[in-house]
Amino acid sequence: MGVASPILSPVVKPAASPGASPAASPAAAAASPSPRPLNTPAPAPKPLAAGIEGLGRPATSQDIVAFAIRGDGQGLPPGSGSAAEGTPIYAGKCASCHGDAGQGTPNGPQLVAPVPWQVGGPITMGNFAPYAAPIFGYIWGSMPYDNPQTLSPNEAYALTAWILWQHKIIGENDRMDATSLPQVKMPNHDNFRQGDPRPDVP
Ligand code: HEC
Repeated sequence: MGVASPILSPVVKPAASPGASPAASPAAAAASPSPRPLNTPAPAPKPLAAGIEGLGRPATSQDIVAFAIRGDGQGLPPGSGSAAEGTPIYAGKCASCHGDAGQGTPNGPQLVAPVPWQVGGPITMGNFAPYAAPIFGYIWGSMPYDNPQTLSPNEAYALTAWILWQHKIIGENDRMDATSLPQVKMPNHDNFRQGDPRPDVP
């Protein structure tokens, strides 16, 4: 490479003959990384399921149920649990991120906070949510954060009960199931208004 090579300067006209093009000449390619042919794009990933473009996976029935559990309890699965049963499960599967007493850590938000909720104070599902049943749905569907949908319904009921008990909403041995959980009166329930409160909206 005695003569100034076109590839050393982008201002100089690029190699005219095909033989001098960097793609065809290893010597020229070694002299400078530029210009060089663009990489051929990798083939598109093989879709895991038809119509999903290779991302994610089809929703399971637990995905759908877990996020669709309503305030009235519709969608709650069979099973039950108490806060007393939830205590060891919480210590083993939740405390690493949410703290021993639910106070929160850098890895997970605070789960237990004073009741009643005060404007500007910490918000948790226990002190803020209008209904208890969706707390079960959230836990069953998404927690533990690093291993979601591994809890049995009994464990998720026990952990929901533990959170309610920590907020002094239910007793340590109150049994939560598809019938009792929707009947729990949440402390912030009455601060949610039914319907549209704007006076000019019928
Ligand atoms: C690896 C860390 C980790 C573990 C373990 C974990 N969580 Fe979480 N949790 C999180 C994070 C992060 C969020 C916030 C997620 C978000 O905002 O999308 C969260 C959010 C929550 C919330 C909603 C917080 C609120 O009050 O608004 C609840 C309830 C909850 N987790 C319960 C649990 C329970 C019960 C367990 C044990 C089975 C558990 N978590 C285990 C990290 C974790």
